[in-house]
Amino acid sequence: MRNICVIGTGYVGLVSGAGMADFGNSVVCADIDKSKIDMLQAGGIPIYEPGLKELVDRNVKAGRLAFSADVETSVRNAEVIFIAVGTPMGDNGEADLKAVEAVARTIAKNLNSYKIICTKSTVPVGTGARLEALITQEKESDFEFDVVSNPEFLREGSAVKDFLLPDRVVLGVNTERAADVMKQVYRSLFINETPMVITNVPSSEMIKYASNAFLAVKISFINEMANLADKVGADVHTIARAMGLDGRISSKFLHPGPGYGGSCFPKDTEALVYTGEQHGVDFKVVKAAIGANKNQRNVILAKAQELLPDMSGNTVAILGLAFKANTDDVRDTPALAIIQGLEDAGAVVRAYDPIAAENMKKFFLPELDTRQTVLETVEDADLVIILTEWNELRGLGLKELKTHLRAPNIVDARNILSIDQLKEFGYNYRNVGRSNI
Ligand SMILES: NC(=O)c1ccc[n+]([C@@H]2O[C@H](COP(=O)([O-])OP(=O)(O)OC[C@H]3O[C@@H](n4cnc5c(N)ncnc54)[C@H](O)[C@@H]3O)[C@@H](O)[C@H]2O)c1
Repeated sequence: MRNICVIGTGYVGLVSGAGMADFGNSVVCADIDKSKIDMLQAGGIPIYEPGLKELVDRNVKAGRLAFSADVETSVRNAEVIFIAVGTPMGDNGEADLKAVEAVARTIAKNLNSYKIICTKSTVPVGTGARLEALITQEKESDFEFDVVSNPEFLREGSAVKDFLLPDRVVLGVNTERAADVMKQVYRSLFINETPMVITNVPSSEMIKYASNAFLAVKISFINEMANLADKVGADVHTIARAMGLDGRISSKFLHPGPGYGGSCFPKDTEALVYTGEQHGVDFKVVKAAIGANKNQRNVILAKAQELLPDMSGNTVAILGLAFKANTDDVRDTPALAIIQGLEDAGAVVRAYDPIAAENMKKFFLPELDTRQTVLETVEDADLVIILTEWNELRGLGLKELKTHLRAPNIVDARNILSIDQLKEFGYNYRNVGRSNI
Protein backbone atom coordinates (compact mmCIF):
# COMPACT_ATOMS: atom_id res chain seq x y z
CA MET A 1 0.00 0.00 0.00
CA ARG A 2 1.38 3.43 -0.94
CA ASN A 3 0.48 7.00 -0.11
CA ILE A 4 -0.81 8.55 -3.31
CA CYS A 5 -1.98 11.95 -4.46
CA VAL A 6 -3.76 12.31 -7.79
CA ILE A 7 -3.76 15.87 -9.09
CA GLY A 8 -6.64 16.63 -11.42
CA THR A 9 -9.95 15.02 -10.49
CA GLY A 10 -11.58 14.74 -13.91
CA TYR A 11 -12.57 11.69 -15.94
CA VAL A 12 -9.14 10.12 -15.54
CA GLY A 13 -8.04 11.43 -12.15
CA LEU A 14 -11.22 10.54 -10.32
CA VAL A 15 -11.58 7.07 -11.79
CA SER A 16 -7.92 6.17 -11.38
CA GLY A 17 -7.71 7.71 -7.90
CA ALA A 18 -10.73 5.71 -6.76
CA GLY A 19 -9.39 2.63 -8.56
CA MET A 20 -5.99 2.85 -6.91
CA ALA A 21 -7.73 3.21 -3.54
CA ASP A 22 -9.65 0.06 -4.41
CA PHE A 23 -6.29 -1.67 -4.93
CA GLY A 24 -5.58 -0.89 -1.25
CA ASN A 25 -3.61 2.36 -1.55
CA SER A 26 -4.30 5.47 0.46
CA VAL A 27 -5.34 8.15 -2.07
CA VAL A 28 -6.10 11.85 -1.99
CA CYS A 29 -7.62 13.27 -5.18
CA ALA A 30 -6.76 16.97 -5.40
CA ASP A 31 -8.01 19.62 -7.78
CA ILE A 32 -7.89 23.41 -8.07
CA ASP A 33 -11.59 23.38 -8.95
CA LYS A 34 -13.00 23.85 -5.48
CA SER A 35 -16.61 23.35 -6.58
CA LYS A 36 -15.69 19.87 -7.82
CA ILE A 37 -13.97 19.00 -4.55
CA ASP A 38 -16.87 20.39 -2.49
CA MET A 39 -19.24 18.21 -4.46
CA LEU A 40 -17.07 15.11 -3.99
CA GLN A 41 -16.68 15.79 -0.28
CA ALA A 42 -20.46 16.04 -0.03
CA GLY A 43 -20.84 12.60 -1.66
CA GLY A 44 -21.64 13.82 -5.19
CA ILE A 45 -19.96 12.77 -8.45
CA PRO A 46 -19.23 15.60 -10.92
CA ILE A 47 -19.25 13.41 -14.05
CA TYR A 48 -21.47 10.70 -15.45
CA GLU A 49 -19.61 7.40 -15.45
CA PRO A 50 -21.35 4.06 -14.82
CA GLY A 51 -20.23 2.37 -11.57
CA LEU A 52 -18.14 5.33 -10.41
CA LYS A 53 -20.33 6.37 -7.51
CA GLU A 54 -20.23 2.88 -6.01
CA LEU A 55 -16.43 2.72 -6.41
CA VAL A 56 -15.94 6.14 -4.82
CA ASP A 57 -18.39 5.52 -1.96
CA ARG A 58 -16.85 2.14 -1.15
CA ASN A 59 -13.36 3.57 -0.85
CA VAL A 60 -14.32 6.75 0.99
CA LYS A 61 -16.16 4.59 3.50
CA ALA A 62 -13.14 2.35 3.90
CA GLY A 63 -11.02 5.43 4.67
CA ARG A 64 -8.74 4.92 1.65
CA LEU A 65 -10.00 7.79 -0.50
CA ALA A 66 -10.35 11.51 0.25
CA PHE A 67 -10.63 14.75 -1.70
CA SER A 68 -8.84 18.03 -1.26
CA ALA A 69 -8.65 21.46 -2.85
CA ASP A 70 -5.35 22.00 -1.06
CA VAL A 71 -2.99 20.72 -3.74
CA GLU A 72 0.20 21.78 -1.92
CA THR A 73 -0.57 19.87 1.28
CA SER A 74 -1.73 16.87 -0.74
CA VAL A 75 1.63 16.87 -2.54
CA ARG A 76 3.59 17.15 0.68
CA ASN A 77 1.76 14.21 2.23
CA ALA A 78 2.20 11.87 -0.74
CA GLU A 79 4.96 9.56 -1.87
CA VAL A 80 3.55 8.95 -5.35
CA ILE A 81 1.98 11.87 -7.20
CA PHE A 82 -0.05 11.22 -10.31
CA ILE A 83 -0.55 14.14 -12.66
CA ALA A 84 -3.97 13.72 -14.28
CA VAL A 85 -4.76 17.25 -15.44
CA GLY A 86 -5.97 18.08 -18.93
CA THR A 87 -3.65 18.32 -21.94
CA PRO A 88 -5.93 19.95 -24.50
CA MET A 89 -5.02 20.80 -28.06
CA GLY A 90 -2.91 23.93 -28.23
CA ASP A 91 -1.90 26.05 -31.20
CA ASN A 92 -0.77 24.09 -34.28
CA GLY A 93 -2.20 20.88 -32.83
CA GLU A 94 0.48 20.48 -30.18
CA ALA A 95 -0.49 19.30 -26.68
CA ASP A 96 -0.93 22.22 -24.30
CA LEU A 97 1.17 21.33 -21.27
CA LYS A 98 0.45 24.45 -19.21
CA ALA A 99 -1.55 22.62 -16.55
CA VAL A 100 1.00 19.76 -16.35
CA GLU A 101 3.83 22.23 -15.90
CA ALA A 102 1.90 24.22 -13.31
CA VAL A 103 1.49 21.03 -11.29
CA ALA A 104 5.20 20.19 -11.72
CA ARG A 105 6.06 23.62 -10.27
CA THR A 106 3.79 23.02 -7.29
CA ILE A 107 5.49 19.68 -6.72
CA ALA A 108 8.96 21.24 -7.00
CA LYS A 109 8.04 23.76 -4.33
CA ASN A 110 6.67 21.09 -2.02
CA LEU A 111 9.29 18.37 -2.40
CA ASN A 112 9.67 17.49 1.27
CA SER A 113 10.70 13.81 0.82
CA TYR A 114 11.57 11.36 -1.97
CA LYS A 115 8.64 11.37 -4.39
CA ILE A 116 7.60 9.70 -7.59
CA ILE A 117 6.03 12.08 -10.06
CA CYS A 118 3.98 10.11 -12.49
CA THR A 119 2.29 11.42 -15.61
CA LYS A 120 -1.10 9.82 -16.15
CA SER A 121 -2.20 12.66 -18.40
CA THR A 122 -1.50 11.94 -22.06
CA VAL A 123 1.72 13.83 -22.69
CA PRO A 124 3.95 13.93 -25.78
CA VAL A 125 7.20 12.02 -25.84
CA GLY A 126 9.88 14.07 -24.14
CA THR A 127 7.57 15.47 -21.45
CA GLY A 128 9.05 13.27 -18.70
CA ALA A 129 12.50 14.63 -19.43
CA ARG A 130 11.09 18.16 -19.56
CA LEU A 131 9.42 17.76 -16.16
CA GLU A 132 12.56 16.29 -14.66
CA ALA A 133 14.55 19.33 -15.78
CA LEU A 134 11.88 21.74 -14.59
CA ILE A 135 11.59 20.18 -11.13
CA THR A 136 15.37 19.88 -10.75
CA GLN A 137 15.67 23.56 -11.55
CA GLU A 138 12.84 24.77 -9.34
CA LYS A 139 12.96 22.49 -6.31
CA GLU A 140 13.85 24.14 -3.04
CA SER A 141 15.21 21.05 -1.24
CA ASP A 142 17.76 18.29 -1.81
CA PHE A 143 15.25 15.47 -1.81
CA GLU A 144 15.40 13.07 -4.73
CA PHE A 145 12.54 12.30 -7.06
CA ASP A 146 11.81 10.07 -10.02
CA VAL A 147 9.64 10.90 -13.01
CA VAL A 148 7.52 7.98 -14.21
CA SER A 149 5.13 7.66 -17.14
CA ASN A 150 1.95 5.64 -16.60
CA PRO A 151 -0.44 6.43 -19.46
CA GLU A 152 -4.10 5.70 -18.94
CA PHE A 153 -6.13 3.64 -21.40
CA LEU A 154 -9.57 3.75 -19.79
CA ARG A 155 -12.54 4.56 -22.01
CA GLU A 156 -15.25 6.92 -20.88
CA GLY A 157 -18.45 4.97 -20.46
CA SER A 158 -16.64 1.86 -19.21
CA ALA A 159 -13.88 3.63 -17.29
CA VAL A 160 -14.34 1.86 -13.97
CA LYS A 161 -14.13 -1.61 -15.48
CA ASP A 162 -11.27 -0.56 -17.75
CA PHE A 163 -9.28 0.73 -14.80
CA LEU A 164 -9.92 -2.20 -12.49
CA LEU A 165 -9.46 -4.85 -15.19
CA PRO A 166 -7.12 -3.30 -17.76
CA ASP A 167 -5.76 -5.09 -20.82
CA ARG A 168 -2.31 -3.96 -19.70
CA VAL A 169 -0.51 -1.49 -17.47
CA VAL A 170 2.31 0.51 -19.02
CA LEU A 171 5.04 1.88 -16.79
CA GLY A 172 7.88 4.04 -18.06
CA VAL A 173 10.53 4.13 -15.35
CA ASN A 174 14.15 5.22 -15.23
CA THR A 175 15.17 3.68 -11.88
CA GLU A 176 14.68 0.38 -10.04
CA ARG A 177 13.49 2.29 -7.03
CA ALA A 178 10.61 3.86 -8.97
CA ALA A 179 9.79 0.54 -10.63
CA ASP A 180 9.49 -1.17 -7.23
CA VAL A 181 7.15 1.48 -5.84
CA MET A 182 4.98 1.49 -8.96
CA LYS A 183 4.68 -2.30 -8.86
CA GLN A 184 3.36 -1.95 -5.32
CA VAL A 185 0.83 0.68 -6.38
CA TYR A 186 -0.48 -1.84 -8.92
CA ARG A 187 0.12 -4.90 -6.76
CA SER A 188 -3.50 -6.10 -7.07
CA LEU A 189 -3.12 -6.17 -10.83
CA PHE A 190 0.29 -7.88 -10.67
CA ILE A 191 -1.14 -10.72 -8.64
CA ASN A 192 -4.05 -10.97 -11.11
CA GLU A 193 -1.47 -11.50 -13.85
CA THR A 194 -2.47 -8.37 -15.75
CA PRO A 195 0.18 -7.86 -18.45
CA MET A 196 2.67 -5.19 -17.35
CA VAL A 197 4.83 -3.41 -19.89
CA ILE A 198 7.75 -1.88 -18.06
CA THR A 199 9.92 0.26 -20.25
CA ASN A 200 11.71 3.59 -20.35
CA VAL A 201 9.83 6.88 -20.10
CA PRO A 202 9.93 7.90 -23.81
CA SER A 203 8.65 4.48 -24.94
CA SER A 204 5.83 4.62 -22.43
CA GLU A 205 4.85 8.11 -23.54
CA MET A 206 4.82 6.98 -27.16
CA ILE A 207 2.77 3.84 -26.47
CA LYS A 208 -0.24 5.97 -25.57
CA TYR A 209 -0.09 8.05 -28.76
CA ALA A 210 0.66 5.04 -30.93
CA SER A 211 -2.35 3.20 -29.48
CA ASN A 212 -4.79 6.09 -29.87
CA ALA A 213 -3.56 6.97 -33.34
CA PHE A 214 -3.89 3.34 -34.44
CA LEU A 215 -7.48 3.16 -33.18
CA ALA A 216 -8.28 6.45 -34.90
CA VAL A 217 -6.87 5.03 -38.14
CA LYS A 218 -9.06 1.93 -37.75
CA ILE A 219 -12.18 4.06 -37.32
CA SER A 220 -11.40 6.28 -40.28
CA PHE A 221 -10.56 3.20 -42.35
CA ILE A 222 -13.91 1.52 -41.74
CA ASN A 223 -15.74 4.81 -42.26
CA GLU A 224 -14.23 5.12 -45.72
CA MET A 225 -15.12 1.49 -46.44
CA ALA A 226 -18.68 2.31 -45.33
CA ASN A 227 -18.81 5.26 -47.69
CA LEU A 228 -17.98 2.97 -50.62
CA ALA A 229 -20.36 0.26 -49.39
CA ASP A 230 -23.15 2.84 -49.48
CA LYS A 231 -22.51 3.48 -53.15
CA VAL A 232 -22.31 -0.13 -54.27
CA GLY A 233 -24.99 -1.95 -52.28
CA ALA A 234 -22.58 -3.66 -49.90
CA ASP A 235 -23.09 -4.11 -46.15
CA VAL A 236 -20.26 -2.64 -44.11
CA HIS A 237 -21.24 -4.62 -41.01
CA THR A 238 -20.71 -7.89 -42.83
CA ILE A 239 -17.46 -6.56 -44.25
CA ALA A 240 -16.27 -5.50 -40.78
CA ARG A 241 -17.31 -8.80 -39.23
CA ALA A 242 -15.47 -10.85 -41.82
CA MET A 243 -12.41 -8.61 -41.53
CA GLY A 244 -12.52 -8.92 -37.75
CA LEU A 245 -12.55 -12.70 -37.88
CA ASP A 246 -8.99 -12.43 -39.13
CA GLY A 247 -6.96 -12.54 -35.92
CA ARG A 248 -4.42 -10.15 -37.43
CA ILE A 249 -7.10 -7.48 -37.76
CA SER A 250 -9.47 -7.99 -34.75
CA SER A 251 -13.09 -6.90 -34.79
CA LYS A 252 -12.73 -3.97 -32.39
CA PHE A 253 -13.01 -0.40 -33.62
CA LEU A 254 -14.44 -1.42 -36.96
CA HIS A 255 -17.81 0.18 -36.38
CA PRO A 256 -18.68 2.94 -38.85
CA GLY A 257 -20.36 6.16 -37.77
CA PRO A 258 -20.10 9.94 -37.80
CA GLY A 259 -16.37 9.83 -37.01
CA TYR A 260 -14.49 9.73 -33.73
CA GLY A 261 -14.76 12.53 -31.20
CA GLY A 262 -14.24 13.04 -27.51
CA SER A 263 -11.42 14.42 -25.48
CA CYS A 264 -8.70 12.03 -26.69
CA PHE A 265 -8.49 10.87 -30.31
CA PRO A 266 -8.89 14.26 -32.01
CA LYS A 267 -6.28 16.01 -29.90
CA ASP A 268 -3.92 13.04 -29.55
CA THR A 269 -3.73 12.40 -33.30
CA GLU A 270 -3.02 16.09 -33.92
CA ALA A 271 -0.42 16.16 -31.16
CA LEU A 272 1.33 13.11 -32.61
CA VAL A 273 1.49 14.72 -36.04
CA TYR A 274 2.94 17.84 -34.41
CA THR A 275 5.57 15.85 -32.49
CA GLY A 276 6.46 14.02 -35.70
CA GLU A 277 6.98 17.32 -37.47
CA GLN A 278 9.28 18.52 -34.70
CA HIS A 279 11.45 15.48 -35.37
CA GLY A 280 11.23 15.45 -39.16
CA VAL A 281 8.78 12.53 -39.27
CA ASP A 282 5.77 12.95 -41.53
CA PHE A 283 2.86 10.86 -40.14
CA LYS A 284 1.06 10.45 -43.46
CA VAL A 285 -1.29 7.69 -42.28
CA VAL A 286 -2.36 9.53 -39.14
CA LYS A 287 -2.87 12.74 -41.09
CA ALA A 288 -5.09 10.87 -43.53
CA ALA A 289 -7.13 9.47 -40.63
CA ILE A 290 -7.61 12.99 -39.26
CA GLY A 291 -8.73 14.26 -42.67
CA ALA A 292 -11.11 11.32 -43.18
CA ASN A 293 -12.56 11.90 -39.74
CA LYS A 294 -13.29 15.56 -40.42
CA ASN A 295 -14.86 14.57 -43.73
CA GLN A 296 -17.11 12.01 -42.05
CA ARG A 297 -19.12 14.82 -40.47
CA ASN A 298 -19.76 16.10 -44.01
CA VAL A 299 -20.74 12.61 -45.14
CA ILE A 300 -23.48 12.60 -42.50
CA LEU A 301 -24.56 16.10 -43.50
CA ALA A 302 -24.72 15.02 -47.14
CA LYS A 303 -27.00 12.13 -46.18
CA ALA A 304 -29.23 14.58 -44.34
CA GLN A 305 -29.29 16.80 -47.41
CA GLU A 306 -30.25 13.85 -49.63
CA LEU A 307 -33.36 13.29 -47.52
CA LEU A 308 -34.11 16.98 -47.00
CA PRO A 309 -32.65 18.89 -49.97
CA ASP A 310 -33.97 22.26 -48.82
CA MET A 311 -33.42 22.57 -45.11
CA SER A 312 -34.33 26.18 -44.69
CA GLY A 313 -36.99 26.56 -42.05
CA ASN A 314 -37.30 22.79 -41.63
CA THR A 315 -36.95 21.14 -38.24
CA VAL A 316 -34.19 18.62 -37.66
CA ALA A 317 -34.25 16.54 -34.48
CA ILE A 318 -30.85 15.41 -33.23
CA LEU A 319 -30.93 12.35 -31.00
CA GLY A 320 -27.66 12.00 -29.09
CA LEU A 321 -25.11 14.71 -28.35
CA ALA A 322 -22.41 12.83 -26.42
CA PHE A 323 -19.47 11.67 -28.55
CA LYS A 324 -20.40 8.12 -27.62
CA ALA A 325 -22.86 6.31 -25.38
CA ASN A 326 -22.62 6.20 -21.59
CA THR A 327 -20.77 9.46 -21.14
CA ASP A 328 -21.70 13.10 -20.60
CA ASP A 329 -18.54 14.20 -22.42
CA VAL A 330 -19.22 16.43 -25.43
CA ARG A 331 -15.67 17.58 -26.17
CA ASP A 332 -15.13 17.35 -29.95
CA THR A 333 -18.35 15.41 -30.35
CA PRO A 334 -19.45 14.93 -33.99
CA ALA A 335 -22.75 16.59 -32.98
CA LEU A 336 -21.00 19.97 -32.83
CA ALA A 337 -19.96 20.11 -36.48
CA ILE A 338 -23.16 18.45 -37.65
CA ILE A 339 -25.44 20.87 -35.79
CA GLN A 340 -23.36 23.75 -37.15
CA GLY A 341 -23.71 22.40 -40.71
CA LEU A 342 -27.47 21.98 -40.35
CA GLU A 343 -27.90 25.49 -39.00
CA ASP A 344 -25.73 26.87 -41.80
CA ALA A 345 -28.14 25.20 -44.23
CA GLY A 346 -31.04 27.01 -42.57
CA ALA A 347 -32.46 24.13 -40.49
CA VAL A 348 -34.09 24.67 -37.13
CA VAL A 349 -32.33 22.22 -34.79
CA ARG A 350 -33.74 20.58 -31.69
CA ALA A 351 -31.79 18.06 -29.67
CA TYR A 352 -32.11 15.34 -27.07
CA ASP A 353 -29.52 13.44 -25.09
CA PRO A 354 -30.31 11.41 -21.98
CA ILE A 355 -27.22 12.67 -20.13
CA ALA A 356 -25.09 15.10 -22.13
CA ALA A 357 -27.54 17.89 -23.06
CA GLU A 358 -26.60 20.01 -20.06
CA ASN A 359 -22.87 19.86 -20.84
CA MET A 360 -23.50 20.73 -24.48
CA LYS A 361 -25.33 23.90 -23.43
CA LYS A 362 -22.88 24.70 -20.65
CA PHE A 363 -19.66 24.32 -22.64
CA PHE A 364 -20.51 24.81 -26.32
CA LEU A 365 -24.01 25.71 -27.49
CA PRO A 366 -25.87 27.73 -24.85
CA GLU A 367 -28.63 28.56 -27.33
CA LEU A 368 -29.30 24.96 -28.39
CA ASP A 369 -32.95 23.99 -28.08
CA THR A 370 -32.76 20.79 -26.02
CA ARG A 371 -35.79 18.79 -24.96
CA GLN A 372 -36.48 16.33 -22.16
CA THR A 373 -37.72 13.34 -24.18
CA VAL A 374 -37.30 11.80 -27.60
CA LEU A 375 -40.94 12.33 -28.53
CA GLU A 376 -40.88 15.99 -27.52
CA THR A 377 -37.77 16.43 -29.67
CA VAL A 378 -39.12 14.76 -32.80
CA GLU A 379 -42.59 16.34 -32.72
CA ASP A 380 -43.34 17.64 -36.25
CA ALA A 381 -39.72 17.20 -37.28
CA ASP A 382 -38.85 16.92 -40.96
CA LEU A 383 -35.75 14.83 -40.30
CA VAL A 384 -34.30 12.84 -37.40
CA ILE A 385 -30.55 12.26 -37.07
CA ILE A 386 -29.23 9.72 -34.58
CA LEU A 387 -25.72 10.65 -33.50
CA THR A 388 -25.07 8.63 -30.32
CA GLU A 389 -25.64 4.92 -29.78
CA TRP A 390 -27.48 5.22 -26.45
CA ASN A 391 -29.39 2.06 -25.52
CA GLU A 392 -32.53 4.15 -25.23
CA LEU A 393 -32.18 5.09 -28.90
CA ARG A 394 -31.47 1.52 -29.97
CA GLY A 395 -34.90 0.67 -28.64
CA LEU A 396 -36.83 3.47 -30.41
CA GLY A 397 -40.36 2.41 -31.29
CA LEU A 398 -40.27 3.29 -34.97
CA LYS A 399 -44.00 2.78 -35.54
CA GLU A 400 -44.99 5.31 -32.91
CA LEU A 401 -42.11 7.63 -33.75
CA LYS A 402 -43.42 8.03 -37.28
CA THR A 403 -46.77 9.32 -36.06
CA HIS A 404 -44.97 12.27 -34.44
CA LEU A 405 -42.93 13.31 -37.47
CA ARG A 406 -43.91 15.72 -40.20
CA ALA A 407 -41.87 13.66 -42.66
CA PRO A 408 -40.51 10.12 -42.05
CA ASN A 409 -36.84 10.90 -42.70
CA ILE A 410 -34.09 9.35 -40.57
CA VAL A 411 -30.32 9.41 -40.79
CA ASP A 412 -29.07 6.68 -38.48
CA ALA A 413 -25.42 7.70 -38.18
CA ARG A 414 -24.73 4.86 -35.71
CA ASN A 415 -26.48 2.03 -37.56
CA ILE A 416 -28.52 1.11 -34.50
CA LEU A 417 -31.98 0.88 -36.06
CA SER A 418 -33.42 -2.19 -37.74
CA ILE A 419 -33.37 -1.76 -41.51
CA ASP A 420 -36.28 -4.20 -41.77
CA GLN A 421 -38.38 -2.00 -39.50
CA LEU A 422 -37.34 1.20 -41.23
CA LYS A 423 -38.55 -0.37 -44.48
CA GLU A 424 -41.68 -1.86 -42.93
CA PHE A 425 -42.84 1.47 -41.50
CA GLY A 426 -42.08 3.38 -44.67
CA TYR A 427 -39.18 5.56 -43.60
CA ASN A 428 -36.80 7.31 -45.97
CA TYR A 429 -33.54 6.37 -44.30
CA ARG A 430 -29.82 6.59 -44.60
CA ASN A 431 -27.24 4.92 -42.41
CA VAL A 432 -23.51 4.45 -42.71
CA GLY A 433 -22.43 1.76 -45.11
CA ARG A 434 -25.74 -0.10 -45.35
CA SER A 435 -28.03 2.43 -47.00
CA ASN A 436 -28.62 0.36 -50.09
CA ILE A 437 -28.97 -3.16 -48.82
N1 LIG B 1 -11.00 11.31 -20.67
C1 LIG B 1 -10.49 10.16 -21.11
O1 LIG B 1 -11.20 9.25 -21.56
C2 LIG B 1 -9.00 9.94 -21.07
C3 LIG B 1 -8.48 8.64 -21.22
C4 LIG B 1 -7.11 8.46 -21.16
C5 LIG B 1 -6.27 9.55 -20.95
N2 LIG B 1 -6.80 10.80 -20.82
C6 LIG B 1 -5.89 11.91 -20.56
O2 LIG B 1 -5.96 12.22 -19.17
C7 LIG B 1 -5.78 13.63 -18.97
C8 LIG B 1 -6.96 14.18 -18.20
O3 LIG B 1 -8.11 14.03 -18.98
P1 LIG B 1 -9.57 14.19 -18.36
O4 LIG B 1 -10.53 13.84 -19.42
O5 LIG B 1 -9.62 13.49 -17.05
O6 LIG B 1 -9.58 15.78 -18.10
P2 LIG B 1 -10.65 16.63 -17.28
O7 LIG B 1 -10.72 17.94 -17.98
O8 LIG B 1 -11.90 15.84 -17.07
O9 LIG B 1 -9.98 16.84 -15.85
C9 LIG B 1 -8.84 17.59 -15.61
C10 LIG B 1 -8.92 18.12 -14.18
O10 LIG B 1 -7.67 18.75 -13.88
C11 LIG B 1 -7.95 19.87 -13.06
N3 LIG B 1 -6.79 20.78 -13.09
C12 LIG B 1 -6.35 21.55 -14.10
N4 LIG B 1 -5.24 22.22 -13.74
C13 LIG B 1 -4.95 21.85 -12.47
C14 LIG B 1 -3.91 22.19 -11.55
N5 LIG B 1 -2.95 23.03 -11.89
N6 LIG B 1 -3.92 21.61 -10.33
C15 LIG B 1 -4.90 20.74 -9.98
N7 LIG B 1 -5.90 20.38 -10.81
C16 LIG B 1 -5.94 20.94 -12.04
C17 LIG B 1 -9.21 20.46 -13.64
O11 LIG B 1 -9.87 21.28 -12.71
C18 LIG B 1 -9.99 19.19 -13.95
O12 LIG B 1 -10.83 18.79 -12.88
C19 LIG B 1 -5.60 14.22 -20.36
O13 LIG B 1 -4.24 14.31 -20.65
C20 LIG B 1 -6.26 13.20 -21.26
O14 LIG B 1 -5.73 13.20 -22.56
C21 LIG B 1 -8.14 11.02 -20.85
